[in-house]
Amino acid sequence: VFEKGKRSKPEPPAISRSAWDTGPREETVLVPIKLCNLPPFPPAAGRLLACSEADGDVTGVASVVGGDPALAAEVLFLANSSLFGFPARIQSLRHAVAVLGISCIRQLATTLALRALRGAGPFVRPCWRHSLACAVIAEKFAPLFGCVAEHGYTAGLMHDIGRLGFLRSYPSEIGAVLAAGYSDGDEFLAAERTAMNASHGEAGAWLIEYWTLPPAFSEICARHHDPFQESDSPLLTLIKLACRLADAAGYAAVRYRTGPGYDDVLQSDLPSLAGQFFPDEQAIRDEVESRLAAFE
Ligand SMILES: [Fe+2]
Ligand SMILES: [Fe+2]
Repeated sequence: VFEKGKRSKPEPPAISRSAWDTGPREETVLVPIKLCNLPPFPPAAGRLLACSEADGDVTGVASVVGGDPALAAEVLFLANSSLFGFPARIQSLRHAVAVLGISCIRQLATTLALRALRGAGPFVRPCWRHSLACAVIAEKFAPLFGCVAEHGYTAGLMHDIGRLGFLRSYPSEIGAVLAAGYSDGDEFLAAERTAMNASHGEAGAWLIEYWTLPPAFSEICARHHDPFQESDSPLLTLIKLACRLADAAGYAAVRYRTGPGYDDVLQSDLPSLAGQFFPDEQAIRDEVESRLAAFE
């Protein structure tokens, strides 16, 4: 799912007379120009995201993480934290990868990369909490959709990267949008488009391409607010559900006046949910809080 595509880096949008890009992409998506000024996605985390399960070996993954000393230090710190609770000290990256597993190290690296990109400001924290909640929920629900838990986690983490990009590039513009209350997602998305000339989904899909991250994330970013459709891939369906469950469980990045509860969302007419046992809302909150505590 996460193979890296062969393609060239997209051209940054041209500067136009307004603050926004009005050219030169072929698609109708117009990307706000300041997104081009975001720092690059941390290369080590990008490389780990792009390697398939078959590519991963302990030495290779340890050497990719070790190529970024700051990332390496944080991975080692977390490997020794209460998040995992190992009694003996883990002293080396190779040891950490061997003990925690390659997929766990990739998840840690992606989470740390996103944390490093998120910037500051009053609306960043709710967005970060929503992204991590969506990741944890997608990880838990992945088996119901036939998805690998790690893929669910990572896609959940990345699905709102466009909003983090907006917050970093246009804090006052998107801040004004996020400060208001909305009756539903459609109303919020309309306000966002009016203010930003693009949705955070479109911005996220563009960033995934700009950073040359695995193309599977682009569709997740672009379409996660669309209604459920039978033609959706299992991973996209999973993230649509996880994003809605994160909102319902109290991890919304947007202020909704009312909204469906956690159990209401689980009533969605999805074949994968029929007759299944679900983690309850409190169990999800407990898990999300413990992950948040480890990364905050
Ligand atoms: Fe979103
Ligand atoms: Fe979301």
